[in-house]
Amino acid sequence: MPALQTENVTAGYGKTPIINEISVDAEVGRITTIIGPNGAGKSTFAKTLVGILKPMAGRILVNDVDITRMPGHQIPRHGLAYVPQNDNVFKRMSVRENLEIGGFVKKGDPAARIEELFEIFPDLAKAHAKKAGLLSGGQQNLLAIARALMANPSVIVLDEPTAGLSPAYTSVVWEQIARIAQLDTAVVVVEQNVERALKHSDLVHIFVAGRDHVHGPAQEISALDLPSIFLGRSHSSEAA
Ligand SMILES: Nc1ncnc2c1ncn2[C@@H]1O[C@H](COP(=O)(O)OP(=O)(O)OP(=O)(O)O)[C@@H](O)[C@H]1O
Ligand SMILES: [Mg+2]
Repeated sequence: MPALQTENVTAGYGKTPIINEISVDAEVGRITTIIGPNGAGKSTFAKTLVGILKPMAGRILVNDVDITRMPGHQIPRHGLAYVPQNDNVFKRMSVRENLEIGGFVKKGDPAARIEELFEIFPDLAKAHAKKAGLLSGGQQNLLAIARALMANPSVIVLDEPTAGLSPAYTSVVWEQIARIAQLDTAVVVVEQNVERALKHSDLVHIFVAGRDHVHGPAQEISALDLPSIFLGRSHSSEAA
């Protein structure tokens, strides 16, 4: 059973759906990535997964538990963590303090978990006493990811973890994402950079205009005519 299952999820901000009948599964040990043009509904999907938006239809399950109608604050307890694209750290708090307040749902010793995370994220270990607001953008993103990992989630949802980063730091972040997947975690990433997504992911979904236009193993997706899909010139298999 995949750690995350979504079945025909339809959601939006008002009465009009933005995403339609989306079914995405994510398995532990795998990186499942959502790509697609601007406005395709990628962030809307991420927000729906984590309960910020409630679906109009469909179901979301984490470890077989239906979280679809659960209040947002209860969802982390069921093993789902979310890292939003912006404003994802407490800038006036130190790196360590940011991690401490991320540990609220974790059973066991937060200090020990912080040490584990410092092994995975050496940049953060070096900067442990620094105010988060003084870190580089890339380091802040890593801190936000580490904070979400304090809760030891089964599923982590990352919305554009490499947006605005230098190519070098983008590689660092993707290396860390690969390590996270190995920690018995299902990783769901929203990514702007198609090349990176295809290189680092196991499964890729391409959203176009609020629909899951096509999905499959990264290798299969790499073989498609992606420019046509992104420009909306290619019909999905359902529509064809
Ligand atoms: N808070 C909101 N209220 C109303 N409509 C919104 C809101 N946020 C996004 N939308 C609309 O929903 C659609 C999908 O937006 P969304 O942010 O999910 O796209 P995206 O695929 O994440 O795009 P990007 O690549 O630019 O991040 C867009 O048409 C957008 O204008
Ligand atoms: Mg977005």
